[in-house]
Amino acid sequence: MDEKRKVIFSGIKPSGALTLGSYLGALKNWVALSDEYECYYCIVDMHAITVRQDPAELRRNTLSQLAQYISCGLDPSKNVVFIQSHVPAHAELGWVLDCYAMFGELSRMTQFKDKAAKNADNINAGLFTYPCLMAADILLYQTNLVPVGEDQKQHVELTRDIAHRFNTIYGDTFAMPEPYIPKVGARIMSLTEPDSKMSKSERDGGGCVCLMDKPDDIMRAFKRAVTDSETEVRFDPANKKGVSNLMSIYSAATGRSYAEIESEFAGKGYGAFKLAVGESVVELLRPIRERAEDLLKNKDYLVQVYRDGAEKASRAAARTLRKVYKKIGFVER
Ligand code: TYM
Repeated sequence: MDEKRKVIFSGIKPSGALTLGSYLGALKNWVALSDEYECYYCIVDMHAITVRQDPAELRRNTLSQLAQYISCGLDPSKNVVFIQSHVPAHAELGWVLDCYAMFGELSRMTQFKDKAAKNADNINAGLFTYPCLMAADILLYQTNLVPVGEDQKQHVELTRDIAHRFNTIYGDTFAMPEPYIPKVGARIMSLTEPDSKMSKSERDGGGCVCLMDKPDDIMRAFKRAVTDSETEVRFDPANKKGVSNLMSIYSAATGRSYAEIESEFAGKGYGAFKLAVGESVVELLRPIRERAEDLLKNKDYLVQVYRDGAEKASRAAARTLRKVYKKIGFVER
């Protein structure tokens, strides 16, 4: 049993409330994998500031996100749960990796292109080099597996390219990470615009459901979900985007297969289907929200969790950073 456990790293930006998309695409797997692996789960506040944040809200979201990580089932005594800005090694390795990532490869990142289009008045350098900081997050811990949603696959692939480049020049330094993407829930779409990903910024459009939403709000969002002009509940993502998205959510929430869902709602129409999906999500999220509300009343506990997490993460990160600094020729302190 003294064989070293494989390492997991993942993170979510505290740039808004945690969504059902982040839960089904990422967090749910974090919890599922946490017994088997040595896990580092981070609140990546440094990534959040690539888009302008209200400072008070960022602080509030960060603490609330920590409470939600725990209430989703991450046990802070078994997983290292921490805040990115508390471990300076992320910024330090991030800078080094800036010097090993190419302008051309960063220009090809879909998330950069999307965000640059949406924030035309603030296409800052951080938005562009964001994937290097993300590579640093991952590589600092000698990570083997990165549980993320589909949209982050490209960034993990770039991380592999950067690691490979560095290892080729300096000899084995970084472990080679693999993305871990769920079969169901890898890309949850907006309920009102099933062509685009469910995200915190669509909150006002009513297409987004958040982990801390109350049952009435969740039911309202599902009742208003866009479907199509047919009546049949059938999985066909190319032609029935809205219905297929609802089926993915229902499948992820209940564990039922698409075939089982199709027969459950055969001849019943969309009204009954949307209600059932809404209710399954209400029940899925209820314990998460209630537990997080309780945890948020105990600020001292949360402070203790993030301090303890930062200490453990700093220790692990320092080992890799020391190795990197030595290899590239920095004089030892
Ligand atoms: P972020 O904060 O946008 O999203 C957090 C995680 O949730 C997943 N996700 C979704 N999955 C399915 N459907 C959706 N609608 C949906 N929306 C979000 C994302 O794929 C992600 O896994 N760059 C990252 C954060 C990050 C990170 C890291 C992740 C920074 N450093 C290191 C892993 C490892 C991001 O912007 O995720």
